[in-house]
Amino acid sequence: MKIDVLTLFPLMFDGFVNTSIIGRAVKDNKVTINIHNIRDFSKEPNNRVDDYGFGGGHGMVLMPAPIFDAVEHFRTPDSLVIMMTPQGKTYTQEQAYNLTKYNHIIIICGHYEGFDERIRSIVDLEISIGDYVLTGGEIPSMVVMDSVIRLIDGVIIEESHLNESFNNNLLDHPVYTKPQNFRGMEVPEVLLSGHHENIRKWREEEALKKTLERRPDLLEKR
Ligand SMILES: C[S@@+](CC[C@H](N)C(=O)[O-])C[C@H]1O[C@@H](n2cnc3c(N)ncnc32)[C@H](O)[C@@H]1O
Repeated sequence: MKIDVLTLFPLMFDGFVNTSIIGRAVKDNKVTINIHNIRDFSKEPNNRVDDYGFGGGHGMVLMPAPIFDAVEHFRTPDSLVIMMTPQGKTYTQEQAYNLTKYNHIIIICGHYEGFDERIRSIVDLEISIGDYVLTGGEIPSMVVMDSVIRLIDGVIIEESHLNESFNNNLLDHPVYTKPQNFRGMEVPEVLLSGHHENIRKWREEEALKKTLERRPDLLEKR
């Protein structure tokens, strides 16, 4: 998979593309992430990319020309163009799985007051990471990339996905590590028993219990 990110703040991505599981996926060529400065596509003096909004109001609006030019430069017939915006569809794990089907994704990160409305005409999908407003689309784009890249074959052990939260509309079961007793809190005995079938049943029941307590809405979808 190849991902082209259009942003005004490329430096924000340095840690993301070089660290931990994402850094390893990049090194192993499971994914190519190219970060592009939208200013490089500006034809305005001083590479300007924003201006005051017509009709007044606070905040600068991202102009259409540099974003159109950047998208047209990178887009191929196979590309999916995503706009990060609080006005988009709220992102879910199901959408993350859907995005793994694309070979090429272009992500546009907004800033300031947001996008000139006409930019929406070249976008295939608008994604919001939740009902709150951030200063820019950089962190939301990393949320989307991280959730998609970890699902690409071979990035993490496939088994790790099986019981993960939201798979089968369940939250994950509780997990424990050493020590067996921490400040009087014991690891459930079944996990120490070595009895695989009993462990499987316990995990299934605990996942159901947790989902019922915290996210009954998920159970309704099952
Ligand atoms: C300050 S916000 C602009 C918000 C816009 N005025 C509105 O109310 O819809 C600047 C940029 O941050 C990004 N952004 C902010 N919150 C987001 C969210 N919840 N999901 C995705 N992107 C977000 C978008 O790219 C947006 O263009």
